[in-house]
Amino acid sequence: MSVEQNIKNNSFLITGGAGFIGSNLVGYLLENGAKKVRVLDNLATGKLENIQEFKSNPRFEFLQGDISNLEDCKKACIGIDLVSHQAALGSVPRSINDPITTNVVNISGFLNMLVAVRDAGIKKMVYAASSSTYGDSPVLPKKEENIGMPLSPYAVTKYTNELYAHVFALNYGMDIIGLRYFNVFGPKQDPFGAYAAVIPLFMKAAINHVAPTINGKGLQSRDFTYVQNAVQANVKGLFSDCQGHEVVNVACAEQTDLNQLWDYIQEIAKIELAANHGPARVGDVEHSLADLTKAKSTIGYSPDIKIKEGLKLAYEFYKTN
Ligand SMILES: NC(=O)c1ccc[n+]([C@@H]2O[C@H](COP(=O)([O-])OP(=O)(O)OC[C@H]3O[C@@H](n4cnc5c(N)ncnc54)[C@H](O)[C@@H]3O)[C@@H](O)[C@H]2O)c1
Repeated sequence: MSVEQNIKNNSFLITGGAGFIGSNLVGYLLENGAKKVRVLDNLATGKLENIQEFKSNPRFEFLQGDISNLEDCKKACIGIDLVSHQAALGSVPRSINDPITTNVVNISGFLNMLVAVRDAGIKKMVYAASSSTYGDSPVLPKKEENIGMPLSPYAVTKYTNELYAHVFALNYGMDIIGLRYFNVFGPKQDPFGAYAAVIPLFMKAAINHVAPTINGKGLQSRDFTYVQNAVQANVKGLFSDCQGHEVVNVACAEQTDLNQLWDYIQEIAKIELAANHGPARVGDVEHSLADLTKAKSTIGYSPDIKIKEGLKLAYEFYKTN
């Protein structure tokens, strides 16, 4: 059956669907005729404006609720075929400032969702894992089986998710896929607040013609991943025939340092503006680059949109939003 036919035949629950990645996934599923798309979100970091465009669609449903409440998770799973679990508190610095709240949402909330999915007999769940799980391992490119020690409470929570998913697959016969996202960016990613990610901050700086601040020398590198690639990984993961628990990288396999990133954005915005440099951030990994061999062989993932094209699309979004 084609992916489009599969989407039409199924009802989806997207936790964290009012957030950046979740709302992009919701949009894709609705556009492709999903039978039903339900969002469970407590709007901790997500926004109603991210899902405003779907509100009039009869196949869309918004459930305001908290994954750290098991009853909310159970209610959200009623009548659902497939689950994409995106809800979590992101950001390494947030987890360093408030490890307890990050732990409650990202670990207890994750466990609640596993129990709710298990009890509802749902066919498959994919979830947002993270490249932060590679921790202090200096090995590049990152292969799923070689991880180091975590560098932040956030990384501990994301690795713990993988361990729980593994034992739920083992003990309850569930099929679960963890998507280790590498620095996802694109439309609807929040450019505001203390925990904003680097690309939206640089985009707003370019648009407002204000020099951005780069933490440290700017030589730290990332495998920046346009959000539609993450959407593709979710859809392919949900319809793959893999059994048990698998974890795959979701990235572009392109390494870009922060100085280069600002250069690319200046080029797109047609500006010339030197960046300021501030102190390096604690808890951050120095370099990141994914190996995509397993993602390809396990779920058929390969990135459609590379960094420069993704930056152009994101810039167009921030110019008008
Ligand atoms: N953006 C990235 O680069 C990246 C990288 C690695 C992993 N991830 C993971 O991907 C997922 C989505 O991230 P995002 O960038 O879209 O972040 P986001 O903050 O935009 O989205 C997260 C969503 O989860 C919701 N949420 C938070 N706590 C909740 C709770 N207790 N109950 C219900 N909903 C809750 C938020 O309101 C928000 O809508 C997260 O699990 C994040 O850890 C993101």
